[in-house]
Amino acid sequence: MRDALLAVQQRVEAQLQQQLAGLGLADARLAEAMTYGVLNGGKRLRPFLTYATAEALGGSREQADCAAVALEMIHSYSLVHDDLPAMDNDDLRRGKPTCHIAFDEATAILAGDGLLTAAFDVLARAPHQSDAQRLQLIRLLAQAAGGAGMVAGQSIDLGHVGQRMSLSELETMHRHKTGALIRAAVEMGAAAVCEQVDTGTEQALRRYAAAIGLAFQVWDDILDIEGDTATLGKHQGADLALNKPTYPALLGLEGARNKAQELIGDAQQALQQVNGDTAVLAALADYIISRDH
Ligand code: IPE
Ligand code: IPE
Ligand code: MG
Ligand code: MG
Ligand code: MG
Repeated sequence: MRDALLAVQQRVEAQLQQQLAGLGLADARLAEAMTYGVLNGGKRLRPFLTYATAEALGGSREQADCAAVALEMIHSYSLVHDDLPAMDNDDLRRGKPTCHIAFDEATAILAGDGLLTAAFDVLARAPHQSDAQRLQLIRLLAQAAGGAGMVAGQSIDLGHVGQRMSLSELETMHRHKTGALIRAAVEMGAAAVCEQVDTGTEQALRRYAAAIGLAFQVWDDILDIEGDTATLGKHQGADLALNKPTYPALLGLEGARNKAQELIGDAQQALQQVNGDTAVLAALADYIISRDH
């Protein structure tokens, strides 16, 4: 898994660099902050999922490059904004000062805006897809990233600081703030290589993606307690310090771990209904609940 992740990281970073250079960024400081926010050593898990899904369905990495880049631009923008003083107020991200610390708050807001917008530019110009596929990719990403997805999750998160949430409210928040983009990573991998995926495979991939998407944030919550700052590349204990609603806060560490395991079991089962070679997707599911950062 380590080598496979490394290969994707290298590919995505080269692709990101190439795409950033082609955006016509018209202000040097903004360009620097956008680059800082996205080329800063993320795990690139969402691109990994996109490539793995594309390949499971018989497609190539080239076909999935634009979707992978667009997803990572959106994800990185969401982190730049997530760290802002008005949100989680964090000064460490991916082992480096957060964007608003390295630059300033206004520049970090604009860098996020720039990355968010660039993602759709990249998809609109995707060279290996039909017009219908490009439209579908744009739609999948817009739905997942916006007020029906990630942005709603962030809003629910910030609206419940210090409040007790029911398990179903917490699940809804996690499915939006983190699950939506992870689901999109799988769906976009499929959409980038197939005009039409067979219904059984489509449903199974959706079930897989929903399960790992939720498990990913449950594990992120666990790492906030059990991880260490140097390995995480972000401050351990940030959720506790802000009194954030999390799975361990509601279920305890053991309960949260069981929940994550259950979800990954469900994801593995779902893969059995996929018509294709799903070994890499299966390995990624296991990695999600064994990772240390
Ligand atoms: C962190 O995401 C934020 C969440 C959505 C939980 P990642 O753990 O994928 O962060 P990077 O991209 O590797 O830095
Ligand atoms: C962030 O969730 C989810 C996003 C949409 C960015 P967190 O606030 O838990 O992410 P970290 O722990 O700061 O990476
Ligand atoms: Mg947050
Ligand atoms: Mg945060
Ligand atoms: Mg977190």
